[in-house]
Amino acid sequence: MPGMDEVEENETQVRFVLNGELVSVENADPRQCLGDYLRQDRGLKGLQMPCRQGGCGACTVLVSSPEFGSAAANAPVHRIVNSCLRPLCSVDGMVVTTVEGVGTTKKGLHPVQEQLMQSNGSQCGFCTPGMVMSMYGLLKDNPNPTPQQVENGIDGNLCRCTGYRPILDAFQTFSCESTQSKSRGCEGRSGGCDGRVPLDIEECGSRRELCGGELTKLTCSKGGHTWIRATSLSQLYKLLRSTKCSGGVRMVRGNTTTGIYPPPKAKVLIDISRVPELTKVTVTQSQIVIGGAATITDLMVVLENNIDLSPTFPPLLAHLQRVAHPQVRNVGSVAGNLVLCNLHGDFTSDIATIFMAAEVRLRLGMADTFGTEETVGLWEFFQMSLQGVVIIEIHLPYGTYQTQFKSYKVALRKVNAHALLNAAFKFDMEKSTGVCTRPPVIVYGGVKPHPVRAYRTEAFLDGKCCYNQEVLRQAYSILSSEMVFDPALGRTGYKATLLASFFYKGMLALRPPGSVPPRMRSAVFNEERQISTGQVSFDEGDPALYPVSKPYSKSSAALQVTGEAVYLDDVDYAGELHSTLVVATVASAQIKHIDPTRALAKKGVVSFLSAASIAADGYCNLASEDEEVFASTQVKYYGQALGLIVATSKEIADAASKLVDVTYTDQKPPILTIEDAMTADSWFSERGADFKYGSTEEAFKEADVIIEGEVSTGHQYHFHLETQRALCIPGEDHTLKVYSSTQNPSLIQHCVGVGLNKPQQKIEVVVKRVGGAYGAKIYRSTAVAMACSYAADKLQKPVRLVLDIATNMQSVGARSPYLCKYKVGAQKDGLIKAIQLLIYNNTGAHFDFDYPAMDTLVVWMDCAYKIPNWTLVGKLAKTNLPAMTYMRGPGFVEMLFMVETAIEHTATVLNIRPDIVREMIMYVDGDRTHQNQLLPTCNVKHIFATLKKSSDYEQRMQQVEEFNINNQWVKRGIGMVPCKFVGYYDSQAHTALVNIYPDGSISIHGSGVEVGQGLDIKIAQVAAMALGSLSKNGINPQDIRIFPTTTIVANNTVSTGGSVTSELAAGAVLDACNQILKKLKVVADKLENANGEKPTWVELINTAAASFTDLQARGRFCAGPGKDGAFEYLAFGAGATEVEVDCLTGEVKVLRSDLLLDCGKSLNPAVDIGQVQGAYVQGLGYFLHEEFLFDRDSGKLLTDGTWEYKPPSSKDIPLDLRASLLENSGNSSGVLRSKFSGEPPYGLAASALFAVRRAVAAARTEFGVNGYCSLSAPATVENVMLAAGLSNSSMFNLK
Ligand SMILES: Cc1cc2nc3c(=O)[nH]c(=O)nc-3n(C[C@H](O)[C@H](O)[C@H](O)COP(=O)(O)OP(=O)(O)OC[C@H]3O[C@@H](n4cnc5c(N)ncnc54)[C@H](O)[C@@H]3O)c2cc1C
Ligand code: FES
Ligand code: FES
Repeated sequence: MPGMDEVEENETQVRFVLNGELVSVENADPRQCLGDYLRQDRGLKGLQMPCRQGGCGACTVLVSSPEFGSAAANAPVHRIVNSCLRPLCSVDGMVVTTVEGVGTTKKGLHPVQEQLMQSNGSQCGFCTPGMVMSMYGLLKDNPNPTPQQVENGIDGNLCRCTGYRPILDAFQTFSCESTQSKSRGCEGRSGGCDGRVPLDIEECGSRRELCGGELTKLTCSKGGHTWIRATSLSQLYKLLRSTKCSGGVRMVRGNTTTGIYPPPKAKVLIDISRVPELTKVTVTQSQIVIGGAATITDLMVVLENNIDLSPTFPPLLAHLQRVAHPQVRNVGSVAGNLVLCNLHGDFTSDIATIFMAAEVRLRLGMADTFGTEETVGLWEFFQMSLQGVVIIEIHLPYGTYQTQFKSYKVALRKVNAHALLNAAFKFDMEKSTGVCTRPPVIVYGGVKPHPVRAYRTEAFLDGKCCYNQEVLRQAYSILSSEMVFDPALGRTGYKATLLASFFYKGMLALRPPGSVPPRMRSAVFNEERQISTGQVSFDEGDPALYPVSKPYSKSSAALQVTGEAVYLDDVDYAGELHSTLVVATVASAQIKHIDPTRALAKKGVVSFLSAASIAADGYCNLASEDEEVFASTQVKYYGQALGLIVATSKEIADAASKLVDVTYTDQKPPILTIEDAMTADSWFSERGADFKYGSTEEAFKEADVIIEGEVSTGHQYHFHLETQRALCIPGEDHTLKVYSSTQNPSLIQHCVGVGLNKPQQKIEVVVKRVGGAYGAKIYRSTAVAMACSYAADKLQKPVRLVLDIATNMQSVGARSPYLCKYKVGAQKDGLIKAIQLLIYNNTGAHFDFDYPAMDTLVVWMDCAYKIPNWTLVGKLAKTNLPAMTYMRGPGFVEMLFMVETAIEHTATVLNIRPDIVREMIMYVDGDRTHQNQLLPTCNVKHIFATLKKSSDYEQRMQQVEEFNINNQWVKRGIGMVPCKFVGYYDSQAHTALVNIYPDGSISIHGSGVEVGQGLDIKIAQVAAMALGSLSKNGINPQDIRIFPTTTIVANNTVSTGGSVTSELAAGAVLDACNQILKKLKVVADKLENANGEKPTWVELINTAAASFTDLQARGRFCAGPGKDGAFEYLAFGAGATEVEVDCLTGEVKVLRSDLLLDCGKSLNPAVDIGQVQGAYVQGLGYFLHEEFLFDRDSGKLLTDGTWEYKPPSSKDIPLDLRASLLENSGNSSGVLRSKFSGEPPYGLAASALFAVRRAVAAARTEFGVNGYCSLSAPATVENVMLAAGLSNSSMFNLK
């Protein structure tokens, strides 16, 4: 490129140290991210890239350089980063460590890995390498972190399986306050926790040229794109001028904004991260000067080190702690954040808001005018066009001794979430009188594009006393009139109330703490979240069953913590092709024409498949009776698959998929909700429910009271980090091997066979493990596998199809929403006699195979209660959405919530405590359910009473009441629910092939799929127990190898799910082992007689093998209906949750949760406790956080990525989580006396919402709002605040 490389030295190779090895990359692609390079080019598959948005943390790696951290120039600094956003070219000269460089199963685990494994901190394992890297990175930077720093360390890492508790417990052992770290963490490691790093920054002395030598300009070009690293400001200006006409130029610092918005098209990327004039953060007499390429972390470090210099610094630092998360802050710049805010009016920047209030000024340099400079305030900056403008410095002035600074942010989640609304206030005032000595600065973000200042309110307050009630009233009146919300930014009703709340909080907080009335203090001085803790308890198991009933780590735990666990997309095949779905961009229309011409013309595109080509090729386009793999004539929902582009790379396939031209006719407004379906009268009328038990009509006539109400539930995306995917490899004789991320290999085999018109024996389906499923991969993986299989069979090449997160969320169904209208008949004393339910389900555009949405409701409707009369009428709404599907505890969770709501409502009307009403109607021994299931023994009352006692429920209820009397704006609530779970034993059959080899090693091929639930270790324990009984030294279950699930063995099974698979699979293993045992017993007896003692396992097998004993057996477990009814057994549990609600914002803090589950004689209590914790936190997401929002016109899901969809983070879990398995329990049915654990605890999270309701009820009483509020799910910040009924700002008192 002319003019670009002048005379100065210019490097063209990207060179860095990767896990101790020097790496040089010729022709590095400026567009390639570090994560893709590491996975694709270096085969380092430990990191995963589920979101590519900086939102999940699974791609975390450590980057070390003396250049990070301008505060500590030349000292080596280690920073974790999201490798999905980090450009490869940006790490030139640095040291990169991936999970593979931390520790391996061969060389030994690093203490962080070891500890995570020991604490059972991995389930599906997809998030695990990212978690390891976050903790490892923290320790590299700070070997003695405080507990708070440890807790903050995983703010950027999401885990959908574990509920974070075991991860935090593992990581807290490394905190400076841990009593365990010496013994369990770093003991025996030379160099403590850092002792195992192959080559890192400390060794850079010998590699000075890489890690700290003179920087030169770097230029890399590929595919028409150029990366240039600028090394001085003057060079930057020159580059900006010379590249202006080269097809777009973009400066890049952290590149993190590309996780939020697609980057503007630019052929030239200029890396400004090493321009010395831009990287400094300096502290002067009057201000902090932040360089235009300094990161948010740099700023935080300087603020922390100079915290006493200005009263504004502590609140600024606290607010920055809630900006993004460590991986983004470590490379994301302050300037980049402000530029993003300039470019995208819908981005509610925290930094812009707090900086505007702090009155920062920007020193700008203009490239076009050869570096002329200008200094502007933020308001002017947001009005500017930024063409050729460089932010050189940001000047953050100190406050005076009179200054007070307050800032607020409300988001859908505590951390790693952007603000819905934020505000910052800077007041200079006489503290004794409260009189403003100059106009305050009042700024709000999220009202309009860019933060806005309340100039009129500021002017009004100048010289006024802020402690005065009338001043507050008038100021608020002016504020609300000048802050006019832009409707395009959404949630205007909520935000208008929040605006007032922030202002009120701010005015209260300005007062000396002692003068804030005690009842109001919690509204302003209660915002810090403490360190969360946890406890688990279970009994010691049964020695007669050992190793069954002992808490072993999961089979793959070591592989998961080292990143060695192999998932579907971790294996490359020579010559493989990649594919991308072409999806509909309307929700309801006829397809007129699909034209792939432009896509096919793109270099690297191999083929386009659609319904028409499928028909022409003789394939079958139906996944099920109701579902086409590719829509043929009609589009039924936004995101529906219309075809598949196949290309030589994923990038080409993705780009080409957008070039397929589709024209539609007869486009209709979409039906999206149950209410829309009611209006349009759109139902699946043939598949509703009409269930009666007893006579509700008669019971209502005799009831003392009739209570009627309505409650609803929302969607929930499974958020399996590993999206839906398949890899199909054609073989000889027209066979096809299908790797699918599925819970249901047999169904995939069947559907692919039907689709390709081949007998099932030609299709082999293989699943080693899946990276999260939770029901989504029971049916929904089928169409993905079929689409991929058409391409592989047609082209006779391996073809891979991996959905990106947006397509997965748009095109694949979720948990379906319900609306329930209930009617309860009860006696005055609280005894419930009848419940009538009218329930609507949002089914989607077609059925998900035979997913029985309404039938499952009937199964679960009685919850844990003997109620003599029931009616359930169910209707299925046909909407323009993908088919809704199973998600953990389908029907059980929703029904529990809806029926328990009806019970709570009844108790409230009767003025009786809900727990007392519940106890009155709970099942007891000998009861029969509404489906005639006999409960010979029923311990629900015992469990409920035990939990009530162990959780101090009664006493805490009183404390909650006292708290609510003593606190005006912050209210607490405590809720408690029991649950009953039934197991469909007869819904699954399982097989197992057990092989023993002559050296004594054992392998098992099972038919269940390891989805993270610990199936593999449980079946290994069962095999070790059974086979080890003949030897004197037993068998270590962790030595047993569990093979991937394949349809060669699992030839006629059903899906893994319903919480029963581990047991049934264990039953099949036991059957196989018993067959082998019979044969081995003869040999063992002979050896024992000869030697006078039992043989060792190896002796026994050596001898048996020498005499050609058959050491293989195939076992099967296929249960019929249970002896007491349809179900083999039932399991009960109970949960109690206490919450605190800030009624001024709607934010909920879960203070404490106590969970008790009857797992019988748990096969592996560590695994089962993990299920309890994980399911509960997933339930918290469903009941409190996760929300789908659609575009009303197009039907597009707006919350289709990590930026908008917010499952719980590690800071949303209970501050105190106590999970227990019922002690001394057993099970007269079932396999080895165990009971299921996977789904029941999910329902217990409803107690959190009931607790919120109670807090909201207390608020409503306080605010004088009448009537019962059956707050629906999800109780998001918005819904909670609106339910609390705070509508009148005249309630905002200062005294
Ligand atoms: C997952 C995630 C969560 C986030 N959460 C929050 C949040 O809670 N609150 C919040 O406020 N923000 C949040 N952000 C935004 C984040 O703060 C920004 O992405 C980051 O600060 C941008 O800095 P960068 O260096 O990566 O910018 P880049 O992506 O490198 O650049 C962004 C733009 O700024 C321009 N630019 C950069 N530096 C300069 C300069 N010196 N002069 C002129 N132009 C320049 C670039 O040319 C480019 O156009 C989040 C981001 C992510 C990805
Ligand atoms: S893939 Fe990088 S953060 Fe999710
Ligand atoms: S173990 Fe964390 S996402 Fe599965």
